[in-house]
Amino acid sequence: MKAYLLNKAGGVENLVLSEIEKPILKADEVLVETKAISINPVDVKVRPYEEALSMILGTEERPVILGWDISGIVAEVGADVTDFNVGDKVFGMVNFVGQGKAYADYVAAPADQLAVIPEGISFEDAAATTLAALTALQVLTGRVKAGDRVLIHAGSGGVGHFAIQMAKSMGATVVTTSSSKNRDFCLALGADEHIDYREQKFEEVLSDIDFVLDGMGGDILENSIQVVKSGGKIVSLPTHSFEAALQAKADAAGVALEFVMVQSSGGDMNTLAGMLKEGTLKPHVSVTFPFEKLQDAHLQIESGRTVGKAVVTL
Ligand SMILES: NC(=O)c1ccc[n+]([C@@H]2O[C@H](COP(=O)([O-])OP(=O)(O)OC[C@H]3O[C@@H](n4cnc5c(N)ncnc54)[C@H](OP(=O)(O)O)[C@@H]3O)[C@@H](O)[C@H]2O)c1
Repeated sequence: MKAYLLNKAGGVENLVLSEIEKPILKADEVLVETKAISINPVDVKVRPYEEALSMILGTEERPVILGWDISGIVAEVGADVTDFNVGDKVFGMVNFVGQGKAYADYVAAPADQLAVIPEGISFEDAAATTLAALTALQVLTGRVKAGDRVLIHAGSGGVGHFAIQMAKSMGATVVTTSSSKNRDFCLALGADEHIDYREQKFEEVLSDIDFVLDGMGGDILENSIQVVKSGGKIVSLPTHSFEAALQAKADAAGVALEFVMVQSSGGDMNTLAGMLKEGTLKPHVSVTFPFEKLQDAHLQIESGRTVGKAVVTL
């Protein structure tokens, strides 16, 4: 089969399309013939750094195969798998954190991390509704309730565009940020208010926010503290540890800071499948690349300007 091998950390040229053996299945896994792959900022962030690669993939061995988000067709089932049959169309985020080995024709995936793709949903849309959608679901569930005023930074991005839709479904009022070119997109997703971060400082116009989903970090995380009401919460996706001064500022304001790392989950994939089936969640794939151009998909995500999701097709 074909797969992109990364022999050492570096630029996109280090992702080398190679011919290798198909994976050997464990008893609890299914072999998925990959039809679409979604690319995330994490793929792009770990690619250039050996330390980051080793930390997220849990191995210092090289080469590695990057990627976690797939949709495809079940080609084989492991001896202990009862939930899936050959021919089923499935999607999921495989072994995150760890080795998903998604940039390949065939992926061995634990059956309990997958769900069946609802009828009428394309492989591209299914592949898009994996890591980013799981993140939005796992962050918002239990933290946002009806009536809350929620601020979602980068509402036009992969996580943000799912988070706006989910927070609205939960009965929250949603304020979101992006540049002006994505204003209409964010409002069409259900956002009640939009702030163009280039024109307006959100911290000067917002207050009384119950919950912030921060996909940006840095000053945006710090300035978010002052718009949250006492007792409210901020979840930061890019910031995994909070400096003492930042924590002190949050403590003084009575605001809880939290980092959440998305986890593979078949249960949550089934929840997303339900939302896709009902039409309450709609992925937006703004750009697709053929498998041979996967390096270009990395450059697209690296731009930081992707609207919704970027997907690679096989
Ligand atoms: N901890 C976890 O488990 C986890 C999971 C998923 C993602 N993440 C992290 O969360 C972050 C977001 O991920 P993503 O997939 O949503 O990224 P993404 O899809 O690449 O986000 C792109 C979007 O960000 C917007 N943006 C750029 N600068 C902005 C700013 N200053 N203010 C507001 N919006 C801005 C862009 O809109 P404009 O072009 O209009 O500016 C664009 O639509 C990344 O750092 C990622 O690594 C962490």
